[in-house]
Amino acid sequence: MAFQMSKLAARVSLSKSVGFISSAGNRCPSHLNFISRLAHRSFHALRGSASIKVLPSPGVLRKADRWEKVSTASKSLHSQSGGAVKPNRATRVIVSAVGVSAAVLACLSTSTLHAMNARPDLNLDSESSDWKEAKKKLCSMDKEKRRDMYRVDFIPLEKIPVWSPSGVSSHEPRYKVNEELNKKISVFTGDITRLEIDAITNAANKTLLGGGGVDGAIHRGAGPLLRKECATLNGCETGEAKITGAYGLPAKYVIHTVGPIVYDSVGESEEQALTNCYYNCLHTATKNHLRTVAFPCISTGVYGYPPDQAVEVALRTVREYLEQNPEKMDRVIFCVFLKSDKELYEKMLPAYFPRGSPPKSKL
Ligand code: APR
Repeated sequence: MAFQMSKLAARVSLSKSVGFISSAGNRCPSHLNFISRLAHRSFHALRGSASIKVLPSPGVLRKADRWEKVSTASKSLHSQSGGAVKPNRATRVIVSAVGVSAAVLACLSTSTLHAMNARPDLNLDSESSDWKEAKKKLCSMDKEKRRDMYRVDFIPLEKIPVWSPSGVSSHEPRYKVNEELNKKISVFTGDITRLEIDAITNAANKTLLGGGGVDGAIHRGAGPLLRKECATLNGCETGEAKITGAYGLPAKYVIHTVGPIVYDSVGESEEQALTNCYYNCLHTATKNHLRTVAFPCISTGVYGYPPDQAVEVALRTVREYLEQNPEKMDRVIFCVFLKSDKELYEKMLPAYFPRGSPPKSKL
């Protein structure tokens, strides 16, 4: 954690000190823009008002020769003036400043430039950042670049095994064996905020502005921009689902849903509401072409839904959805946090996702 924090702190201090360089390295960072503008201005000073495009556009400059182009440009400032106008003292100061800055840049080691390039100009820790801009940039990054922005440790999908029964189930199968669907199911015990997948589901409340439990963990991991985006969604009704970016989380998106609150016992309306949560989250995922989704045990914490009844709603809804949309989803992960929930899923999964009997040995 200390390493993560020092890395994060380094990332923050570095981005503050030298300006931001786009992650793709294809945009002039702010300090190079400044130097090129300075060189441009000093060229005007040398040549009077004639406006000639001297400097390479601050568009795509390869990092390796970036400083060279700037220093060439500053040299050409002088040569192109052809002595037409004797530079006055102020201009001499400007041109030498450009030269010095270009030299400083040249001294930056490639690894520092590379490290600076690796740091997309995003600050996910600040309330004042623009959530729309951050969300757009994160969506356009490849996985390697995005991993530099995670605010928590991550677990890649390939580290989450497909579920396989650990013993003989005491429950009669409620569905036919379908090995294609069985390959889409995982049970993960741990913190849902770590999962590097397309979308994690949040067991939120109607405000969508954060809370305790898994809701609190997701907002803490994502950072302040998640709440800023949620605040634009006008809340969420029980059973509904709304999607946002995931910001500092390894997941690409968060699908927020509000489970039913159970006061005494589970009635038809509570069961239907919980079914709607799972169905609408899956539907929101496939509508956004997301193929890997994780669910916490919605409503079974603060909201008091008995876990042994909730597990049947979760497994039935996911099984029905996958039967109707087998090609739209690659993996559904039941993320359990409590040992008791893990045991419940292990016990009930064979009834909803029965395995074929293993081939009889020929011996
Ligand atoms: N990762 C995965 N599961 C988690 C995590 C986590 N980091 N933290 C808690 N859980 C589990 C809990 O153990 C429980 O099994 O999520 C399940 C849902 O519990 P809650 O988070 O309490 O959610 P819920 O019962 O739906 O109540 C929602 O609680 O946190 C507030 O703002 C939230 O008001 C909303 C209410």
